[in-house]
Amino acid sequence: MSRVIVENVSFSYDGETDVVKNVSFTAAAGEWLAVTGHNGSGKSTLARCLNGLLLPRNGTVTTCGFITTDPETIMTLRRRAGMVFQQPDNQLVAPTVADDIAFGLENAGVPYDEMKERVEAAVKRLGLSGLEDREPHRLSGGQKQRVALAGITALKPDVIILDEASSMLDPAGRSDVRDVVRRLCREDGITVIMITHDLEEAAEADRMLVMREGQLTADAPPAELFKKPDLLKEAGLVLPLAVLMAERLRLEGFDPGSPTSEEELVRALCNYV
Ligand SMILES: Nc1ncnc2c1ncn2[C@@H]1O[C@H](COP(=O)(O)OP(=O)(O)O)[C@@H](O)[C@H]1O
Ligand SMILES: [Mg+2]
Repeated sequence: MSRVIVENVSFSYDGETDVVKNVSFTAAAGEWLAVTGHNGSGKSTLARCLNGLLLPRNGTVTTCGFITTDPETIMTLRRRAGMVFQQPDNQLVAPTVADDIAFGLENAGVPYDEMKERVEAAVKRLGLSGLEDREPHRLSGGQKQRVALAGITALKPDVIILDEASSMLDPAGRSDVRDVVRRLCREDGITVIMITHDLEEAAEADRMLVMREGQLTADAPPAELFKKPDLLKEAGLVLPLAVLMAERLRLEGFDPGSPTSEEELVRALCNYV
């Protein structure tokens, strides 16, 4: 069964205007979805519907087998579907990295010994060894987001939702987060829903969803959508530079393949000559 099932979901903040309009999609175990769209297109609202922070006005969301409108199961659902936000500082709560990772486990009532084991495992998994006793606020942005992700992975989630989790980070921090996301879904089978307006970041996902004015206007593999620049442009999105360059090169008679990042483009060009 799909880990996330969104069926005809509409949401309105004021009870009048829908900012998410009749959206449907599913996400399977271990799948990586990128949800893209211009500012205000409804991405964050949709993300908050996925773990029941917001309840749809119409339609249903079923995450990890639980419908978000059931108050009996909502806490279990939220442990199974963790969320990382844009501002790393707002989600770090404890005086040390280890305490911060343990925080969710403590709340979930995990026994001390198991908690210790799970924190250690998460520290290792997220490449935070040596930083356990550091103050979270003194870390780099990328490290902070990895601490937030460690706290979530310690809860053994089935789904992780990242809402522009790397948009405040420098390029190193971004690639940090992306490396972690790649491992969590490709190796651990976690379903990742990554909200981003950066199509280069979305390029690696299995599927790319495009939101436009609250509506889902596309749901297909990124490579397929990169061949529809008009659709992306209409949604206010900018194609990765490498995709644009490759297109121009093709018109000039070179074929650099289908690079989606600058590194891939450079590699393709180096192979060419
Ligand atoms: N808490 C809120 N109260 C009222 N309107 C909101 C709230 N949050 C977002 N909106 C509105 O809902 C629409 C979608 O916003 P949002 O989901 O944040 O889009 P995105 O994440 O794609 O930028 C926007 O028009 C925004 O102004
Ligand atoms: Mg947003």
